[in-house]
Amino acid sequence: MYTGLKGKHLIYEQDWEKEEIEALLDMALDLKKMRALKQSHKYLDTRTLFLLFFEESTRTRNAFETGITQLGGHANYLIPKLTQIDHGEGPKDTVEVLSRYGEGIGIRNTTWGVGNRYMRELAKYSRIPVINLQCDLFHPTQSLADLLTLKEKLGDLRGKKFVMSWTYAPKYVRPISMPQSLITLMPRFGLDVTLAHPPEFFLMPEIVEQARENARKAGSRFEIVHDMDEAFQDADVIYAKSWGALAYTQDEPTILQLIEKYPGWKVTEQGMQLTKEDSRYMHCMPIDRGIEVENAVADGSHSVIYDEAENRLHIAKAIMALTME
Ligand code: CP
Repeated sequence: MYTGLKGKHLIYEQDWEKEEIEALLDMALDLKKMRALKQSHKYLDTRTLFLLFFEESTRTRNAFETGITQLGGHANYLIPKLTQIDHGEGPKDTVEVLSRYGEGIGIRNTTWGVGNRYMRELAKYSRIPVINLQCDLFHPTQSLADLLTLKEKLGDLRGKKFVMSWTYAPKYVRPISMPQSLITLMPRFGLDVTLAHPPEFFLMPEIVEQARENARKAGSRFEIVHDMDEAFQDADVIYAKSWGALAYTQDEPTILQLIEKYPGWKVTEQGMQLTKEDSRYMHCMPIDRGIEVENAVADGSHSVIYDEAENRLHIAKAIMALTME
């Protein structure tokens, strides 16, 4: 197992070798056991992690804040308004300075066309690991926790059918980062991925191509369908959430109108009957209950949403323990 990950950035799962991800999952399970046994695991005593959030968060922020505390370190929660970023200080100056104070920096910035580029720019100048806490393109700390959850629940993942489905959800446009992370990561670990969405809600062609290529190399499958029932047939895993329409990234009203064409894209008990008897329902949360999914499914026997959310903590700790000096 390769464990030489000190100083490595985590911006896109694809930047990590499969062996490195396996090491991360192993570490997460070790840390999970230690926490259950109340064994001290202060591997980051006196270290500081900066958490720079351009948007709101419940799970990600708290997984990293409580995680670094359990590892013996400390988190500094930052928002642009309380830093000189709000006055225009750029990524180079921000990270050159923070690199001299602390040992890691996590960032959430999901602004389309900005978030990933900002993180890559920070990483270029950073002497401490940069961790993507969700950008416009990817959400690796969530997808890796999801992979851990799937390994715990299903054991051998090879040949299992993983459905990444779009759902209806009104009011605001959700990022495409979650489906893009999941469709590229899961085929590498043997899952057969079915991506399901209405035609207008396609993902970035180069990311879809990467997912296909990952599947080809791993001997798994990747397909796209435009019908929810077709996708759900004999599925082992249903991961269903809303996302925006790429063709209109600068035009939110048009996307919201498009979303209104597809209120039937909802996870229902009836739909879950098409899946395998012991299939799992997953969602990264927050969920639009009653809209994206019936409460009976979110709270029912297929659902693993809270185990999935818990694993955010264990993966966050593993990322920090392995990458921070
Ligand atoms: N899944 C997820 O990233 O949740 P938060 O937005 O609450 O961090």
